[in-house]
Amino acid sequence: MKKVALTLAALTLLTTAQARTWAEIKQSGTIKIATEGAFPPFNLLKGKELTGFEVDLANALAKQLGLKVQWVTQPFDNLLIGLGQDRYDFVIASHGITPERQKAVDFTSPHYCTGGAVVTKPGGPMNAAALKGKTVAVQVGTTYLENVRKVPGVKDVKTFPKDTDAQAALMAGRVDAWVGDKFTGLDLVKAQKGKVVQGSLLFNEKIGMAVKKGNSSLVKELNAALAKAMSDGTYAKLSGKYFGTDVRCK
Ligand code: ARG
Repeated sequence: MKKVALTLAALTLLTTAQARTWAEIKQSGTIKIATEGAFPPFNLLKGKELTGFEVDLANALAKQLGLKVQWVTQPFDNLLIGLGQDRYDFVIASHGITPERQKAVDFTSPHYCTGGAVVTKPGGPMNAAALKGKTVAVQVGTTYLENVRKVPGVKDVKTFPKDTDAQAALMAGRVDAWVGDKFTGLDLVKAQKGKVVQGSLLFNEKIGMAVKKGNSSLVKELNAALAKAMSDGTYAKLSGKYFGTDVRCK
């Protein structure tokens, strides 16, 4: 984890090109947004269609800002690195706002609050203490990995490029537990109809959109658009559609 964070920070510092400022984005009329597209119900690429709470929310923010959107999808682990290379203007892919990541990028105000939860088969480990001696699957580059590593006594942490692959490892019985987002976990429990159960939260996190470090004009506009969406009912409507509840940070 340390190594990855240093690499991100180093890349950001080494890049001489400037990220597009708000004035430049506005003038071009189009904002370039990156996500993963493999993290339902937040961002999911189905055939050629991008869907999910974060996709709908970012589209609403762009509309509010008077911009067209050009979407880019990237493996999760590459997303913040691409910001440093000016490949897109911002990233919305459920990144928890952590001190490590803040060394490499800047975050907007949180667009939702959530936590990392343990999911297992009935009879399996349901909390941090029960993970002792167990094998756990997580998506690589995530706060799940960082936090499972802090749990004392875990036997093995298996990392997967995609969160859905980590879930599949649990379903196939190749690991004792999967640690992932609590809302994603609820969907998995529902879809698997009792074949898996959700245990405790290992940690809570605030999720934000990331821009290239120093791009304060863009952060300001995104924060203003988010605040507007949160006050005019746009946010509540989208949150209700995907979660049946309001997921904003309280
Ligand atoms: N919230 C977790 C983190 O901050 C997981 C994010 C995973 N996002 C994704 N698009 N796969 O690391």
